[in-house]
Amino acid sequence: MSSKILVGYATRYGSTKEAAEVIATTLQEGGFEVDLLPVRDVRTLENYNAVVLGAPLFMFHWHKDALRFLARFQKVLGNLPVAVFALGPVTDPYKEEEWQGARDQLEKELAKHSWFKPAALEIFGGRLDPQKMGFPMKMFAGQMPASDIVDLAAVRKWAERLPAIFG
Ligand SMILES: Cc1cc2nc3c(=O)[nH]c(=O)nc-3n(C[C@H](O)[C@H](O)[C@H](O)COP(=O)(O)O)c2cc1C
Repeated sequence: MSSKILVGYATRYGSTKEAAEVIATTLQEGGFEVDLLPVRDVRTLENYNAVVLGAPLFMFHWHKDALRFLARFQKVLGNLPVAVFALGPVTDPYKEEEWQGARDQLEKELAKHSWFKPAALEIFGGRLDPQKMGFPMKMFAGQMPASDIVDLAAVRKWAERLPAIFG
């Protein structure tokens, strides 16, 4: 059996794409064939044995492209191992409530798709740059200090565990 994995992502400012790239590279180094694609460009899941789906949290919601992806491919995703991640927390130093809040937000979003049972679910630190924000993001987070707690080493570690999780 071939072992082809889709790493699909949604992003607005690029940090989730960076995480997805690290995951794709890590899986490739582990001997897997990998496609790395923005989820909105995915046309079929026909040839995949597993999927990694990543997107950021914005204003208490998961990026809409990721939710649409779940809806579009419900039939296939119900029968594939899917690992899910979200970028969200941006406060430095670490604030436990923020990480728990991000996890709760993601779980609440996924609960709207009750058929969906991810094989793994992880939250990673994100990046906030008020300079890059336009309306309406600036209204919500424009007063927050710039921050970058994207931890690509943590992303890589998680990706190294995925083949065992996918089985
Ligand atoms: C306007 C705005 C709203 C955000 N809302 C949330 C949120 O509700 N929960 C959360 O955990 N992170 C939130 N974040 C943090 C983002 O998830 C973080 O900046 C992430 O790294 C962005 O991903 P991207 O670079 O792939 O677009 C917010 C960021 C911005 C700019």
